[in-house]
Parts: sequence; C-alpha cells; structure tokens
Amino acid sequence: MRIALALLVMLAEEASARFYDIPKPGADGRYTIFAPGIKAQFIPYGATLTNLFVKDKNGKDIDVVLGYDDAAYYPKDPGHPVYNSIPGRYVNRIGKGQYTLDGKTYHTELNDGNNTLHSGTNNWSYRVWNVTALSDDSITFGISDASNSSMGMFGRVDASVTYSLTNSTWHIKMSATAPDQKTPLMLTQHTYFNLDAYKNPATPLIWDHTLYLPYGKRYLEADQGALPTGKILTAAPNSINDFASKPNMPFGHAVNMTGFKGNCGADGACEGYNGYWLIDDAPKDAVVATLASPFSGVRADLRTTQPGVVLYSCSWMDGTAPIKSTQGLNSTQKVLKSSCVAIEAQDYPDGINHPEWNRTAAQITGPGQKYDWASSWTFGTL
Ligand SMILES: *[C@@H]1O[C@H](CO)[C@@H](O)[C@H](O)[C@H]1NC(C)=O
Ligand SMILES: *[C@@H]1O[C@H](CO)[C@@H](O)[C@H](O)[C@H]1NC(C)=O
Ligand SMILES: *[C@@H]1O[C@H](CO)[C@@H](O)[C@H](O)[C@H]1NC(C)=O
Ligand SMILES: *[C@@H]1O[C@H](CO)[C@@H](O)[C@H](O)[C@H]1NC(C)=O
Ligand SMILES: *[C@@H]1O[C@H](CO)[C@@H](O)[C@H](O)[C@H]1NC(C)=O
Ligand SMILES: *[C@@H]1O[C@H](CO)[C@@H](O)[C@H](O)[C@H]1NC(C)=O
Ligand SMILES: *[C@@H]1O[C@H](CO)[C@@H](O)[C@H](O)[C@H]1NC(C)=O
Ligand SMILES: *[C@@H]1O[C@H](CO)[C@@H](O)[C@H](O)[C@H]1NC(C)=O
Repeated sequence: MRIALALLVMLAEEASARFYDIPKPGADGRYTIFAPGIKAQFIPYGATLTNLFVKDKNGKDIDVVLGYDDAAYYPKDPGHPVYNSIPGRYVNRIGKGQYTLDGKTYHTELNDGNNTLHSGTNNWSYRVWNVTALSDDSITFGISDASNSSMGMFGRVDASVTYSLTNSTWHIKMSATAPDQKTPLMLTQHTYFNLDAYKNPATPLIWDHTLYLPYGKRYLEADQGALPTGKILTAAPNSINDFASKPNMPFGHAVNMTGFKGNCGADGACEGYNGYWLIDDAPKDAVVATLASPFSGVRADLRTTQPGVVLYSCSWMDGTAPIKSTQGLNSTQKVLKSSCVAIEAQDYPDGINHPEWNRTAAQITGPGQKYDWASSWTFGTL
C-alpha cells in the first residue's frame, strides 16, 4: 500500500514536472531554433512556421516565407490561407465529400464547393498543437485528433511533427498512428515561399523565380474545382505545366500563354498553378524540386519521401494580408495575387477515391501501422 502510494506520488510528480517542463515561447510568442546559415521560428497554432531566415547572395539574412508579425493574429486572420502549417488528417481534396473503406461509404464535410478541403472546418491547421520537445536546433509538436472530430473520419489519430535545422537545411519529419481503426491519413507541410522576401523593386510577383522539377514531367488533370479527374497527363516541353524539360525554367514562363489564366480552374478565375506533379523514378534522396530567385540569389532544394508535390501559386491571395516587417520595401505592401508559391510534398490528392493509382494503401492507416513523412529544404545561393 505504502509502496503503491509512493509510486502514485512519484508518477504525479513526474506528470506535473512534465507539464511544467513544457517549454515557453520567446517574448514574441515564437519558438526559435538555429543552425549555421539558417534560423526558423514557429508557433503552436497549426504547428506553423512563421519565419525562415537564410542567406542571400550578399550573405545577408532574408526571411523567405510568408507570415504575420503578430503571432496572436494567426487564429484571427479572416482570410486564413493555411499559412505554413500542417493540415490534416487528410490534406487536399476528397472528391464529393465521400470515400469508401472496407465496403462502407463515409461522408465528409463539403467546405470547398463540391468537395472536402483539408478535412473540413476542424482541420489541424486551425488547432493549437502541443510542444513536446525543444532544443536549440529542433522542435516537436504533437496532436491527438479524436474520432470524427473532422466529420466522417473515424478513429483517434496521434501525430507529431519534428522540425530541425542543420547547416542551411530545414528538416521536417512527421509520424502518426491510428490505434483504434482504419482511417484516411495523409499529411503535408504547407509553406508559402517568396525567395525575394518581397524586396524586388521590379516585381512583387512570384513569376521572377525559377522552378525545376527534374522528375516531374507528369501531372494530374484537374477539374474546375481543382479536383483530380483521374487522368495523368504529360507536359510537353515548354508548355504551361512544364517544369521538367530544363533547369531554371522561369516560373512565369507561361504568363502570356493562352490558358494560363484559368490553368488552375474556377472557370478561368484561377491563374497559374494549383495542381499536383508526380515525382517519377527519382533516386533516393535526390533533389526533386529547385525553387530559386535570380534577384535574391536564394536557391531552395527539396528532398522528400513523397511521390509528388502540389504547386499552388497563390492565385487566391486577395491583396489584404499584410507582409511581415522582415519583408518588403515599405510597410504598405500586401500579399498580392500570384506573389508566392506553396510547394507541398504529399501523396496523390484524392487517392482514396482512385484505386487505379495504387495509392490507397499509402493513404489509409490503421491499428498496428505507422504513417511516416519526411522532407527537407536545403538553401544555398545561385
Ligand atoms: C479549417 O478550419 C477553419 C476553422 O473552422 C475554417 O475557417 C477553414 O475554412 C478550414 N479550412 C479549410 C481549407 O476549409
Ligand atoms: C495536448 O496534451 C494534452 C495533455 O496530454 C491533451 O489533453 C491535449 O488534447 C493535447 N492537445 C492536442 C492538440 O492534441
Ligand atoms: C460525426 O460528426 C458529425 C458532426 O460533425 C455528426 O453529425 C455525426 O453524427 C457524427 N457521427 C458519429 C457516428 O458520431
Ligand atoms: C555546410 O554547407 C556548406 C554548403 O553546402 C558546406 O560547404 C559545408 O561544408 C557544410 N558544413 C558542415 C559543417 O556540414
Ligand atoms: C458541382 O456540382 C454541380 C452538380 O453536379 C455541378 O453542376 C458543378 O459544375 C460542380 N462544380 C464544380 C466547380 O465542379
Ligand atoms: C509577357 O508579356 C509582357 C508584356 O508584353 C512582357 O513584358 C513579358 O516579358 C512577357 N513574359 C513572358 C514570359 O513572355
Ligand atoms: C511601397 O512599395 C510598393 C512596391 O514597390 C510601391 O508600389 C509603393 O509605391 C511603395 N509605397 C511607398 C509609400 O513608398
Ligand atoms: C497501378 O498498378 C497497376 C498494376 O501493377 C499498373 O498497371 C498501373 O500502371 C498502376 N497505376 C499507376 C498510376 O501507377
């Protein structure tokens, strides 16, 4: 009895010690980690990256991702574009808000026209995650997602993301389990880049960057609602969706081509890119995407375990979001349409509804299984 009591006291002390050990952010509400050539800052809301400083061609620090100065503004932002966060438990779209698993059809929330986007309105990018570990060069966030907390997705999911830095490289590792029952589970890290930090006096738009997807000739055809139709297309050299035929393809190479406005649907209202490019036959640890800007001289190389990337060129940014004080030429600038790009390593969107793609097994996780995701961005100069 005494031993049991002592044990209880010990466990309680350990639990409360753990509770009080939860690291506190800095005065600016952010957690900051460092490594040579790179500094990153995060908030628990959405497990969000708020600032990422790397070196430009003059060796100066430049903040290459979008965000807000005020950490407390993220949850209040009315136009919330999933800024640099982790959406979940199933990213991107679920066609017509339904999927079938083991013969049973489930209905999810329609929050994006005819489809479900980022699991609906209780998505992970709008929740306050727990900080579970912190060091000078690494931070881990955790989330426990209750069954059906996003409508139509059953069984608890426990997930974590570890962000760490080494020598000009940002590493992202996620893992998750679904101990109760099988569920759709597919994650991404949704960071928006402008490698000029909005400081190019010639243009705030993203079209001055270059993009190379050396293994990305093929892409998924999508309908007007950005939902894949099922068809896999191949981009002809120099066509609108070609970023594979040569290194340093100007990201805006197609801005004047017929079809560029409307290339991402919405009956012509979505200009540029909001689609999925497959990564075919890439050797392990190969660089699968290089985004660069001649103006700042910053180059960003993506490596990932994922079979493709979403490219979204910020067509829906409406010019109301402010830019950070670390960015821009003056404080009046806003985030304009087509002034950033999200490059999201992930599995095939809506793969749970396309058995012909053979991605179903990768997108469903159940008891005894573990979901893993890893990417890194290495920064250098041109
Ligand atoms: C995610 O949830 C928030 C909060 O409920 C909601 O405002 C937002 O529209 C959702 N995101 C998407 C992409 O639907
Ligand atoms: C954070 O941890 C607490 C204590 O374990 C838990 O109750 C809470 O649900 C966790 N928050 C999230 C977002 O998972
Ligand atoms: C799942 O959640 C929705 C609300 O989001 C609710 O209407 C439905 O009854 C729930 N289903 C079950 C089986 O609990
Ligand atoms: C850091 O990266 C630079 C550029 O890639 C390289 O020259 C240098 O040797 C690296 N340093 C360490 C400690 O790995
Ligand atoms: C949504 O579904 C309706 C009815 O099937 C259809 O008329 C409409 O074109 C769809 N919208 C989009 C954007 O696909
Ligand atoms: C697109 O057209 C504008 C205006 O004529 C021109 O300045 C620009 O160089 C063109 N861009 C490309 C990539 O062709
Ligand atoms: C701020 O910068 C923008 C973009 O270069 C420019 O259009 C605007 O005139 C500048 N405003 C002021 C007050 O300098
Ligand atoms: C799926 O697997 C089948 C059988 O191996 C193969 O024929 C088909 O090409 C695969 N589909 C894709 C999209 O890789």
